[in-house]
Parts: sequence; C-alpha cells; structure tokens
Amino acid sequence: MIYAEVIGDPIAQSKSPLIHRHWLAGLGLEGDYRHAHVIAEALPAFLATRRADADWRGCNVTMPHKEAVIPLLDALDPLAARAGAVNCIVREADGRLTGHNTDVDGVAAPLRAAGAGRAAGVVIGAGGAARGAIIGMEAAGIAPIAVYNRTVDKAHALAEMAGGSEALPLSALAPGAGRQVILNASSMGMLGHPPVPIDLAAFPAETIVFDMVYAPLETPLLAEARRLGLRTIDGLAMLIGQAARAFTLFFGAEPLRVDGDAALRALLTGEPVT
Ligand code: ATR
Repeated sequence: MIYAEVIGDPIAQSKSPLIHRHWLAGLGLEGDYRHAHVIAEALPAFLATRRADADWRGCNVTMPHKEAVIPLLDALDPLAARAGAVNCIVREADGRLTGHNTDVDGVAAPLRAAGAGRAAGVVIGAGGAARGAIIGMEAAGIAPIAVYNRTVDKAHALAEMAGGSEALPLSALAPGAGRQVILNASSMGMLGHPPVPIDLAAFPAETIVFDMVYAPLETPLLAEARRLGLRTIDGLAMLIGQAARAFTLFFGAEPLRVDGDAALRALLTGEPVT
C-alpha cells in the first residue's frame, strides 16, 4: 500500500497523521500516513532506505531536520530554496527526491482566501517561521512587508532577503497607511510567553490579523482582533493549509475541504463540531 509519513525528533506530538488520514478516508483512497521518529544521525540512512521503497510517496519533515535534509535531496522547489528550509519531501517515480516548502502555502492560501492581496504586510518575529511567512505573504501578493523584531539586527537580515522590506524594532509597532495584514510569526502569545505588545484598536477596520501560534489557538492577539471585529486567521488554518499542499504532492489528489474544515478542526482541537 502506498504511504507517506512525518519525520522528526520528537515526533509523537505531530498532528500530521490525524490530518492526512482524515483526508485519505474522506476520499476513500487506499493509502496510509504514519509518523517515524528519526534522530539527526539516522537521517541519511533513513532517506536512503525510503528512496528504494516504491510504495513510499514521501514525508513531511519537522524539527530538527528542515535544513539538514537539503543536501540529501536531488532537487529543490524554488520556494523551498528561497525559504532555505524543506518541510516536505516527494519521491518521484524514478526514486529522485524533491524538497518542497508547503509552510509557504500554509501562509499564502488562507491569505488569498481572505482576499488579502495588495495589502501591506506587518510581520512580527525574525526566526525561521518569519522567513517562511514573508515568502508566503509575497506569494499571496502582499507588499510592501515590514519586519518587526525584538532583536532588530535579525529583522534587518530577513528584510534584506525579502527584497528591501523595512526592518524595525518591536517597540515601533504602529499602523501604517492603507489595508494591512498583521502576521505574528514570533513565540509571543504561546502558552507561557508574553502576548504581542500591539494596540490593534489603532489599526483600520479592514485589517487582517494572522497568528501562526496554535497553542493556544485563541491567542490574546486573536481574541482582541475578534473583539474589535477584525478579520482573523489562526494557526490551524496554517497547519491545515500546509498539509493540504503536501497531501496533493504525496497522493495526487486534492483533499476534500468542506464547511471551512469544521470536522477536521474539531478533530484537531478535540472539540465538538459547531
Ligand atoms: P522559529 O523557528 O519558530 O521562528 P525562533 O527562531 O526561536 O523560532 O524565533 C522566535 C521569534 O520570537 C524571534 O523573532 C524572537 O525574537 P528575538 O529574535 O529578539 O529573539 C521572538 N520572541 C520570542 N520571545 C519573545 C519575547 N518575549 N518578546 C519579543 N520577541 C520574542
């Protein structure tokens, strides 16, 4: 039977098997999606074994392998090359391995669905997640993009990558002119971390607020945005969006997406469908 999987260290926490199995069942496809605990030292041998397995369609890649897999692959999708990170490996019929970055789609797809094209972008954070977020925003037509970070030097490095965006200290977070997408790609708002220090009430009513954090799913930033009636995109939209692109790459079919993914979201949060 054909299969794909998610690899990482640790791996038990990954939601990917739940998501992909839900979609495989929804389409009635014969196939499986598993998880594999792969430590850094075992990565080359693991990929060599899987490369020889014609049933293996590929794998999602999570911490700490997103950069380390790159030299082990035969080709890189241009977006993955730009992101400098791979979260999805696809086995071609001849055994060649191509690296993709579907995290970029996970950012771009919900932004497109929210009609965010031609807005300006405000990215908070300057780590690996922010890098993927900027590329996803660009893919969704968002420009210009300003990067705000506690450590402004890191914001400068990212802004340069993004073709001359502005880099600013976190303390300068304030609304610019026109329609904006605010995207939190920092750890702020996660359980045990302080919230993003921003006054959303100062932003115009058409502002879209996107938080990549999904533990908790309702961050203080999103709760405030909803209270103000702003449009919001949560971390599950990103998680589901990246998985949807990976599913199509692995299994050659689009997953069935109905009712705003209500059933899948309920499965992932353990809450009843509303
Ligand atoms: P990831 O790979 O998820 O992007 P990361 O590289 O550790 O993770 O990046 C975390 C981001 O959250 C950084 O931008 C970090 O800011 P610094 O570059 O100044 O470290 C930001 N961050 C984490 N905790 C923060 C806090 N308490 N206040 C402000 N920014 C914070």
